[in-house]
Amino acid sequence: MLDTVQAAPPDPILGLSAAYDADPNPAKINLGVGEYRDAQGSTPVLASVHAAEARIVATSTNKRYLPIDGTAEYGQAVRRLLFGEAETALRPRCATVQAPGGTGALRIAGDFVHAQFPGATVWLSEPTWANHPKIFAAAGLTTASYAYYDSSTHGVDIEAMIAALERAAAGDMVLLHGCCHNPTGADLSLEQWQRVGHTLVDKDLLPLVDFAYQGFGSGLEEDAAGLRALLEIVPEALIASSFSKNFGLYQERVGALTVVTPTVTTAANVLSQLKVCVRTNFSNPPAHGSAIVTEILTDATLQSQWQEEVAEMRGRINGMRTLLVDKLQEHGAGDFSYIADQRGMFSFSGLTQQQVAKLRSEHAVYIVGSGRINVAGITAANVDGLCLAIAAVV
Ligand code: LMR
Repeated sequence: MLDTVQAAPPDPILGLSAAYDADPNPAKINLGVGEYRDAQGSTPVLASVHAAEARIVATSTNKRYLPIDGTAEYGQAVRRLLFGEAETALRPRCATVQAPGGTGALRIAGDFVHAQFPGATVWLSEPTWANHPKIFAAAGLTTASYAYYDSSTHGVDIEAMIAALERAAAGDMVLLHGCCHNPTGADLSLEQWQRVGHTLVDKDLLPLVDFAYQGFGSGLEEDAAGLRALLEIVPEALIASSFSKNFGLYQERVGALTVVTPTVTTAANVLSQLKVCVRTNFSNPPAHGSAIVTEILTDATLQSQWQEEVAEMRGRINGMRTLLVDKLQEHGAGDFSYIADQRGMFSFSGLTQQQVAKLRSEHAVYIVGSGRINVAGITAANVDGLCLAIAAVV
């Protein structure tokens, strides 16, 4: 039977890391996968994470199963990051389950929606993270695209976005990027979040906010402003949290799905169904990553150390963004000043698929096929080589 299995293509993002690792060129540059790198090009374990891990090792007494939905302390810490002070008021209407990373949270959302509303279409921004359509297709859902990015202005085409959402059918789900849109770095303004929120209510659409980069745009609180404004308008929402980037916990796979519902009873019913999705996928969540996040977010000293570390990562990324624009100009690649306005880890360079392929084959520079550059991977040591290579292909 297995002889009939055809090879799948490599993953457009994680597949790049494998190709980069296999490249013998000593001057190779990896700006593909969204991993933070420091000025030396390493992805360090945060000091707050190390401190939390030391405490956990010193105090843990067993390796029993966690509850299907994870611990209550973790759920509360997750919601507190999302909602701030409003967590206390929102808590009774919320269902939170721990998930293995943001991808795990999105898949639980997909399975839950497929089980409850099998006819719902999931609307994704054009463009979006390459894995989004695949996750929802794997959950058995149909996906569609709404207009989002305008390559002529390098910003959000809000009129086209609203027009597309108005064509969605009642009961469909709309995926929004909480901040630091992946791959474009073009975010909705606060007024645009509100406009989108009113459209969702008018058209009976369910928002799913993918929130993977909190703290990498303008700040932990600032980056949640759009989500919080949305929740003042919509009665229901799903939110996928990821702590891969802002805690640097990529390999621990730590995230959560929070569902905001209209009533306490609905929250309890939804939680029971989310638990069925978890139990039939991976039974119950892994403990280590969520223990680290809980330890940090429930301890004032560790929390402020972590906040400083997030600010440092954000500051370095923003510095590299400006350096990239300057160096592209200096090396004759052209005016890429719009890159300075993009937010988060990524830069949507505007490079074509052919230019991206040439960067890889002729210059050993690895970026995603859409032209997305991981700005966090730029260092003082590789920026000249990168910009000379881009100048050579444009
Ligand atoms: C990315 O977009 O590079 C990250 O979200 C990592 C991944 O899993 O693709």
